[in-house]
Amino acid sequence: MLHDFFKYQAQTSPHPLAMEVSHAKGSYIYDSHGKAHLDFVAGVSACGLGHCHPRVVKAIQEQAEKYMHVMVYGEYIQEPAVAYAKLLAKHLPDPLESTYLVNSGTEAMEGAIKLARRYTGRTQILAAKKAYHGNTMGSLSLMGYEERKSVFRPLIPDVGFIQFNAEEDLVRITEKTAAVVLETIQGGAGFILPKNDYLQKVRQRCSEVGALLILDEIQPGFGRTGKLFSFEHFNCVPDILVIGKGMASGMPVGAFVSSNKIMQSLQDSPKLGHITTFGGNPVIAAACLATLEELTESQLIADTLKKEKLFRKLLKHPKITEIRGKGLMLAIMVNSPELANELVLKCAQRGLILFWLLFEPTAVRISPPLTLSEEEIMAGCAIILEVLDTSQL
Ligand SMILES: Cc1ncc(COP(=O)(O)O)c(C=O)c1O
Repeated sequence: MLHDFFKYQAQTSPHPLAMEVSHAKGSYIYDSHGKAHLDFVAGVSACGLGHCHPRVVKAIQEQAEKYMHVMVYGEYIQEPAVAYAKLLAKHLPDPLESTYLVNSGTEAMEGAIKLARRYTGRTQILAAKKAYHGNTMGSLSLMGYEERKSVFRPLIPDVGFIQFNAEEDLVRITEKTAAVVLETIQGGAGFILPKNDYLQKVRQRCSEVGALLILDEIQPGFGRTGKLFSFEHFNCVPDILVIGKGMASGMPVGAFVSSNKIMQSLQDSPKLGHITTFGGNPVIAAACLATLEELTESQLIADTLKKEKLFRKLLKHPKITEIRGKGLMLAIMVNSPELANELVLKCAQRGLILFWLLFEPTAVRISPPLTLSEEEIMAGCAIILEVLDTSQL
């Protein structure tokens, strides 16, 4: 399998981890040698309910037996998508009530940018330095990290960058700005939280000049930070909310959500302003619905903050300079990229899955399933401390 993986499957890096997966359940992924790996990454924040949550598996199986793909997005009334959009609206503040389901986070961001340009009639999009919003051309244009995007230029025009948390940059949001796009909590940059009511100030400035505020909750959303969406911590409601990852417990999906008034502008002039074949797919929508029901009917979201406390209590070590983030979106900060690298690789050998962050080489990600137990947290943290203790770095 290893040989075929490298020969036939396109690679994203020269050195993939290349664990051969047999199956996964709860907080564990089992490899083809039968070894259990405790998962502190959850498919990079995607499997909030752990692997193969029975409620989600059942919803997928039941829907797959009824019907799968029957028509492109938006033409037929398909109960899973309608029921999901309705339940999501119930859990979102006004005026976020209209959901457009797509296939991935980056496609949701593409839809959001198009919607903002179409609705405002303006072209300028402002994003944050070190932002990550996905890898298709529009989202890539908003990536605030030149090194990873310059070879793909030319990208979409009229995109500018502001510094996250820098109030002095807010004057750059003007009557020319269609939208300001921000991750509520910056992910790839190193799990950076907004400070000093920053998001409220951006919100206010956007409202003053008629620009839309787009918040990317693809990573912190769906309970990971102790609220269903992390913007709820910061007293700031976006005009367009972009979601994905944890939305369907491991099935490919994304969505952008806005008011009916704004969303209607994709319907005409031109009509079919955003279209997709598989967006709103009923099997995936059933997984979304089961996930949201489970999250909102259980204690999982509230327990996230207790689990964060336990992580912070246990992860005390002279080589850990800081624990960043919120809830179960945490980053272990160390002194050097080499040590961060060693921590990920040596923990992997000991059966604990950790991962890097995109643009912050001294950080190691902890973004486990929200279903992780206290015993599993203790077992995983013991491995991390042991690796740090024995490291020569
Ligand atoms: C904040 C953020 N936005 C957008 C994306 C892109 O989502 P996807 O990989 O589903 O296209 C990601 C994925 O890592 C993300 O973390």
